[in-house]
Amino acid sequence: MSESAAARRLGILLSGRGSNFLAIADAVAAGRIPNAEIALVAANRGEAPGIAAARSRGLPAEVVEAKGRGRAAHDAEMVERLHAHGVELVCLAGYMRLLSPSFVQAFPNHILNIHPSLLPAFPGLDAQRQALEYGALVSGCTVHFVDDQLDHGVIVLQRTVEVLPADDEAALSARILEQEHLAYPEAIARVLSGKYRIAGRRYVAAPAERS
Ligand code: GRF
Repeated sequence: MSESAAARRLGILLSGRGSNFLAIADAVAAGRIPNAEIALVAANRGEAPGIAAARSRGLPAEVVEAKGRGRAAHDAEMVERLHAHGVELVCLAGYMRLLSPSFVQAFPNHILNIHPSLLPAFPGLDAQRQALEYGALVSGCTVHFVDDQLDHGVIVLQRTVEVLPADDEAALSARILEQEHLAYPEAIARVLSGKYRIAGRRYVAAPAERS
């Protein structure tokens, strides 16, 4: 899986089916995220199907159960598990929990999230339904760094999807998801390359990376 002993170690956090995790895992295996390996897949709930998928691929997978615990205690344990596995870049992939400030500070500018809209439009839950109900003609997905506000950090990459007249929530979500599976591995590869700088709210690619 890894290309060298110095492979960059990814931690994937999820709460559900894990299709973005699988797209990332496929991209790592195919070398489309160069010199990377998945060090840990972790969930906040034991029933997350993504955890079973990770185990069936032989990847390290752990559940840090959130139910019945305060956010600070849960996040402290999650950070401890990520550090124990040597994780350098945390990728939220359908992780349905807000991170506490101390979690964000434990990985400064090293936590990514994917959101199924063109942020800053339609943050929060049910972004695809929000786009339909608003009457947006274009939506898509956004990969962004995580800061201490919901769906707010610096944008790394966006892909657009046309909203079609016949779309319902399921149809639009499915087409956005196809783009998510392309966007997330590409964004991770860009961030791991280190060939960018952050200027205020802007992700600025180094000249060689601009297309
Ligand atoms: C995706 O739509 C992602 O954008 C959002 O949650 C969903 C997770 O899907 N944050 P999956 O678990 O990766 O299939």
